[in-house]
Amino acid sequence: MSTDSIFQSLEKSFLLSRDQLKPIVDGFNLEYQTGLKTPSKGLATMIPSFVTKMPTGDETGTFLSLDLGGTNLRIAAVELKGAGKSVVHELKRRPTLELKTGEGSVFFDWIADAINDLVTVDARHLFSESQVAGKETLALGVCWSFPVDQTAVDRGTILRMGKGFTLQNTEGKDLADMFHGAFKRKNLNVKVTAILNDTVGTLVAHAYTNPACRIGLIFATGINAAYPEKVPLITKLDESIRNKYPENTEMLINTEIDIFGTEAYLPLTNYDLVLDNSHNQPKFQLYEKMLSGAYMGELTRLIALDFIKAGVLFGGHAPEGFDKAWAFPTMYMSTLENDDKTDHKASLELLSIFNFVNTPTLNDIAILTRICRIVSTRSAFLAAVPIISLIEQQKLLDADHDDIVVGINGSTYEFYPHMNLRVRRALDEWYGKEVSRKITLEVASEGGSVGGALIAMLCK
Ligand code: BGC
Repeated sequence: MSTDSIFQSLEKSFLLSRDQLKPIVDGFNLEYQTGLKTPSKGLATMIPSFVTKMPTGDETGTFLSLDLGGTNLRIAAVELKGAGKSVVHELKRRPTLELKTGEGSVFFDWIADAINDLVTVDARHLFSESQVAGKETLALGVCWSFPVDQTAVDRGTILRMGKGFTLQNTEGKDLADMFHGAFKRKNLNVKVTAILNDTVGTLVAHAYTNPACRIGLIFATGINAAYPEKVPLITKLDESIRNKYPENTEMLINTEIDIFGTEAYLPLTNYDLVLDNSHNQPKFQLYEKMLSGAYMGELTRLIALDFIKAGVLFGGHAPEGFDKAWAFPTMYMSTLENDDKTDHKASLELLSIFNFVNTPTLNDIAILTRICRIVSTRSAFLAAVPIISLIEQQKLLDADHDDIVVGINGSTYEFYPHMNLRVRRALDEWYGKEVSRKITLEVASEGGSVGGALIAMLCK
């Protein structure tokens, strides 16, 4: 087969037209309805956050927050300055594979140590003497980028984690209890006052700077979205709970859109199936695996292997190391797509970590980069689906809103070359430019930390 014909069939299955997006949008819309009424059991979607207040931008004070994402742990002292401004004093640590896959209590102890370091060393000047000495309780907002079945604003059951985390003896336990156990063992006077998913944190943090924000989207290692829903429609909540809220109250919902979708309507390719099969949590988060930062590199590698097999890439020889699963992280795709120099020095340098029989040619680089472009364009189009379907769910266009604001946080959206333009293109293709113009995509750069602090404050 020629390079052109291989690309043609790849593009046919990866580049999604409006007609191909439609069943996904419809499927997601249906899952919103089902999720809102089905009480959570085990893996849950449409998780009520119990957050019913949005910030006005005027909030002030210093609050402690914790943000555990797919890659980093961030502990922060957040100074809310009012007028939508905040200053974040942050300590960042990366959990090792051993911590991520080991005993839960060891992991929580490791977090407690980091909190202690922030309060007593790194940001000591922001806390009072009695707080540093542990005589006064510090309130902590926890931003947790994994599914939690929330039972109150400060309580939630840990569900299956994903993103390479398989903590032992945590599933089914209360997240706040796990923290409080570690704080006790480590002698810290800290209390979890709010637990929130990172999407809820992003939505709240972005509403602090722009109160018009109606969707919080994370597009990073994983994908997920949050939005405000009318309490009477959240029928999975007991009537007695719903009745406690004044009429017209909205509650932020963590959709857990990452676990939406089934083989029945997701346009899964053979590469998606191979990736899923080789994953340590097969059949879990099928949609997320099609598009998020954790997986784009691996999809690209699997496709490239087929090009090599067909003899049209790297002279038909897979370089040593390239045949190993996960050997090609998404970051490499960024380098290739960013490299617009004619000598492609950056790309060649990057590829030199693999052992090639013959040095890659410029044509090899062009082919590999084109594969990256196809994979990442599909990601962008798939990432537009939560935006489109949540606009429908909230009937934002019917209400003739002129400015629909989406706060987006996450490395894949913020740093992957042209990703923002590609998501925009997907919206243009779906709505037409006239309507698409009403949707403003804004980077919500302070997601977890500021959101955690704000909710710790709003709910204290
Ligand atoms: C997690 C979500 C999280 C999302 C974005 C997903 O893998 O299940 O809880 O919000 O990643 O970080």
